[in-house]
Parts: sequence; C-alpha cells; structure tokens
Amino acid sequence: MSQQKSFSSNLGAIMAAVGSAVGLGNIWRFPYICGKYGGGAFLVVYLCFVFLLGSVLMMSEFVIGRRAQHTPVKAFQALCPKHRAWGLVGLLGIITSFFILSQYLVISGWTTGYVWNAASGALAKLGTDPVAISDFFNQFSTSQWTPVLFLCVFALIVLAVILGGVQKGIENVSKVLMPVLVLLVLVLCVRSLTLPGAGRGVEYLFSPDFSKLTGEGVLAALGQALFSLSVGMGVMLVYGSYIPVNDNIFKTAMWITVCDTLIAIMSGLAIFPAVFSCGFEPTGGPGLVFLVLPNVFNTMGTAGVVFASLFFVLLMVAAITSAISLLEALTAWFSEHTHTNRWVGALLFFVLTTVLGILFSLSLGSLSHIKISGLTLFDFVDRLNSIYLPPLCALGTIIFFGWVMPEEDIRDEMSNHGTLRIGYFRLFRFLSRYVAPLALLVVLVSGILS
Ligand code: PFF
Repeated sequence: MSQQKSFSSNLGAIMAAVGSAVGLGNIWRFPYICGKYGGGAFLVVYLCFVFLLGSVLMMSEFVIGRRAQHTPVKAFQALCPKHRAWGLVGLLGIITSFFILSQYLVISGWTTGYVWNAASGALAKLGTDPVAISDFFNQFSTSQWTPVLFLCVFALIVLAVILGGVQKGIENVSKVLMPVLVLLVLVLCVRSLTLPGAGRGVEYLFSPDFSKLTGEGVLAALGQALFSLSVGMGVMLVYGSYIPVNDNIFKTAMWITVCDTLIAIMSGLAIFPAVFSCGFEPTGGPGLVFLVLPNVFNTMGTAGVVFASLFFVLLMVAAITSAISLLEALTAWFSEHTHTNRWVGALLFFVLTTVLGILFSLSLGSLSHIKISGLTLFDFVDRLNSIYLPPLCALGTIIFFGWVMPEEDIRDEMSNHGTLRIGYFRLFRFLSRYVAPLALLVVLVSGILS
C-alpha cells in the first residue's frame, strides 16, 4: 500500500475537514434553498438527512480512505481486489469533484468581487434601494469580464495553498481561518437578530409548516446535505486517507457534522431576520445573500461598510477552504495515478476547472444562448451537481461500504485496531446497510423521474 501524506494532528485533520464542509454551501446556499423550500419544514428534513445519512457517509468515506491509504479509484480497488470495477465509484467521485469545483469557482468569484465592491464603497453607494442593489448584482454577475477576473484571482489563491502541500498549506490555512469564520458569523447573527422585526425571520426558520414541503424540497434537502458535508464526491475519502491512525473517526465525523450544521443554522439566523426586517421575500433564490445583505449593511451607515467587507471576506475564506479540498482530491488522485509531482496535477486541474468555470460564468451573460436540454451551461451543471452526481456517487459508496467491504475491516478501522470502544457500531451498521442506501435510492429515483 502506498503511504499517503498525513495531517500532523487530530485537530489539524478536523479543522481541514471542517474547512472543506463549511463553505458557500452553508452561508450562500443553505439560506436560499431553505427559503425557497419552506423554511422550518425544510430544516427538519435537512437535519434528518444530515445526521442519518450525511454523517454515516462521512464515516464511510473516512474508513475507506484511511483503511486503503489510497485516493478514490485505487481505494475501492485495494479494498476489493476481486472486483476492480468498484473503482468506477471512485472515478464518479473524481468527476463530481471536477464539475463541482468548476461551478464553485463561479460563485467564489462573485464573492471575491463583492469583497472588493464592499471595501471600495461601491455597495454602500447603492443605498437601500432594492432595485439599485439588484441591478448592480445582475450587471455584475452577467457582465463579461469582471466576474471572470475575480474567478481567476480566487482560483490562483486556491492553487497557491494547494502547492504549499498538505500540512503546510491546507492545515495551517484551515487552523487560522475557521475560528475567524465562526466569530464573524456570530457577529452577523447578533447584528441581524437585533434589527427591528427580526422575530419573524426566527419564526420562519424554526417553526415548521409541513404543508409547504414538496417532493422537490425533499430532494433539494438531500442534495444540500451532501453538498454541505462534502460527501458523495470522494473528497472526504481523500481526507480520510490523511487522518492520523490514532484518530477516532466517529468523533471526528460527528464534530464536523455538528459544526457544519451549526454554521448553516447560524447563517440562517444571520440572514432570515434581516430578510424579514427589510421586507424582502425569503424565496429570493441564489441572489439572496448578494441582494438582501448589502441592503441590510447599507442601513447601518459607515459601520455598514465594515460589516459588509467582513461578511464577504468571511464568505470568501469559507469558499477557499472548500475549494482547496476539491482541488486537493483531484490533485492527489492524479498524482497517484500518474506518479507525477503534485505540481503537475494541481496545475492541470487548476487550468481545466478555471476554463470550465469561465465558460459557466459566461453562460450567464454572453453565452446564454448555448443550451443543453433547454438549460444554460450554468443551470445544467447546477442540476448535475445537485441532483444526479453526488447522490449517485454516495449510493455507490454506501453500497460498497455496507455490503462489499468486510465487516471485520470496518470494525477494526473504527475501533483503531480494537483500542476504542465502539458501542454505536450496530446502529451505525444498520444505518449504513439499510437506511442510507434505501433513502438515497428513493430520492435519486424520484429525482430522475421528476
Ligand atoms: N461543502 C462545501 C460547502 O458547503 O460549500 C462545498 C463542497 C466542498 C462540496 C467539497 C463538495 C466537496 F467535495
């Protein structure tokens, strides 16, 4: 077995994986998807998926990665040498990571642009006129070169960290940035919750009205749970191969799941009260963060410029640690297969995902006439990334884990060769053999049929 690099400490491993999980998914995507599909009711379904399915998948990926000490394709093959076709599940993960990163760069580029717009005072100049703010956002996101420029800046930052290597790069960046991130979200929560009329936003988030929940909403909750926890794309499998041998996989996965979920809920608390307080609709869609928050910040006078800059820096920081994990998975996979230096894989995927990201960005403006199945390139990849690829890869992974990988190996890995008590094992096994595959199958099939 080839020995993968390793994080230097358990804390480092947790921080890096939390860094992967916490990103645009929590702060940009969670509030708008939650708002779109009914608020509290969506939150309940989302929480079920996160804890019964997402955390189980995360543990499975960690176990497979650490046991095999390989990247996705070879990991499956090493654990089941008789049926090497299982490697295809790993390949699906790599393909998923590739498309997710390309699309992720677009939104990250907007975020980088908004750091500039906030700090330079361009957002503040718009005042509290919702029309001016939304025109500004539409112009910015659909214009030809500005988003592309910021996309490239963002991608270069990610590349620089990746080239720093596993420990020096990812771990150090994550250790510093994650606590800053939590602090900044907390500040924003306090600000938002003290706005007049904030109570309606809290109510929207926490009092479920199940009549608002649709089949599409359930599917979206699954997609959001996988996306937010970074599972179903092989990334956590690669990080699993870096987790130190004495680390408690169960505890690590639970920590990440809880932190990720708390940050998503905190983001909801930072955004929904503000949405209601300013008289906006929670169903505002992908622009929610970029439209509503500048308006809120602009009600705060000069302090608003500081708050706005802090917020978008925070969003960018969160996006960097997530994008790093995606590029790391691609880089590690490539260098294991081609026996080349990390530089080669990192540069290759940096170029490929950036070019594709630029195409997706242009498809919102000048290339909007190019359609696949009636969808723009951006919308097409969005569908692929939320409804099809991650659940499919997750299903393959959990079937492999539940039904192919020997139970003794799983026990041995989760108990650190018999040194840890694993009282949860039977429940975990039940979830990973029956509940998770069935739930994924039902949601996936209904998604495809609809
Ligand atoms: N979990 C990240 C977020 O919430 O923004 C996005 C992400 C990162 C998805 C890594 C998938 C992944 F493999």
